[in-house]
Amino acid sequence: MSPERPESEELVLAFLAEAGDEFVSGEAISDKLGLTRAAVWKHVEALRGQGYRIDAVPARGYRLAGVPDRLTPLELRPLLNTHDVGRVVHWYEEIGSTNDRARELADEGALAGEVVVAEAQTAGRGRRGRTWASPPRKNLYFSVVLRPELPPSRAPELTLVASVALCDALRQAGVEAGIKWPNDLLVGDRKIAGILTELAADPDRVEWVVLGAGVNVNARRDDFPPEVRDEATSVLIERGQAAPRALFAAACFTALEGWLDRHAEEGFAPVREAWRARSVTLGREVTVRVDGRELTGTAEDIDATGALLVRTAAGTERFLSGDVTLLRAR
Ligand code: BTN
Repeated sequence: MSPERPESEELVLAFLAEAGDEFVSGEAISDKLGLTRAAVWKHVEALRGQGYRIDAVPARGYRLAGVPDRLTPLELRPLLNTHDVGRVVHWYEEIGSTNDRARELADEGALAGEVVVAEAQTAGRGRRGRTWASPPRKNLYFSVVLRPELPPSRAPELTLVASVALCDALRQAGVEAGIKWPNDLLVGDRKIAGILTELAADPDRVEWVVLGAGVNVNARRDDFPPEVRDEATSVLIERGQAAPRALFAAACFTALEGWLDRHAEEGFAPVREAWRARSVTLGREVTVRVDGRELTGTAEDIDATGALLVRTAAGTERFLSGDVTLLRAR
């Protein structure tokens, strides 16, 4: 669980959380958890120091009156109904990159669905060696370990699975996001979320996939570095209202698991349909840049492998990877 918080502190918090609006006596907590009353008090103080609001009333006991806006397992677990995604949450106040940590954990045998979540990243990575702005406690930065039964050639499908899932979670939160191929989530011209997929594979089998996602939730314009301010947006900017990050994270994990299950059971076809329906790329004039090459044409479709098909005067080109710029509105 959270590496920074000692176990009995978590247990005291869980006990208070379970009681909801009710007071619980210090005696009940100490009996149940096998702690002295002084230890219970010490843990309550430590929790308060971390932003938990805990009422203490003589003869009634303690009551949890407010939780901080954080993404620890304790905040997330009660909101999750998933069977795999988020069953183990590795939480960090600050980390270099959740993808790097998830890759280490995958190499050490982490199970499918284990998630690394951080409140801030100091070396958040985007696609193609870019950095991902990761201001503390504003947004969502997470990476999920997957162990799909797929040949490596089909692994890119998972990136599209993730983009459909994040798009659904954003729409549920009231933000009309669309997908730019392969996996950027946009609102209008501005990026609200990105996905970085990494994998380890044998020639015929994927060993693990790490799906990393950054979603701009409560960042304001000034929270982004100047160079991305005009290109980035967030749920807060779009809705004019902050979103509870733990609830939003739970919605992302739930949507992700739903689409991963569907992909595992039915293959890529339903994902392809869903991706097309949410796409802001298809039908548009686009420029695709890949390996120093640049090509402009009309984005026609994605094929049965998720590759982008672009029609030019010279014929149709198929792209398995690349950077897309949308040129003209539909
Ligand atoms: C992109 O659009 O370029 C992909 C951005 C992916 C960012 C996320 S944030 C969580 C995870 N950890 C990282 O270092 N990157 C991904």
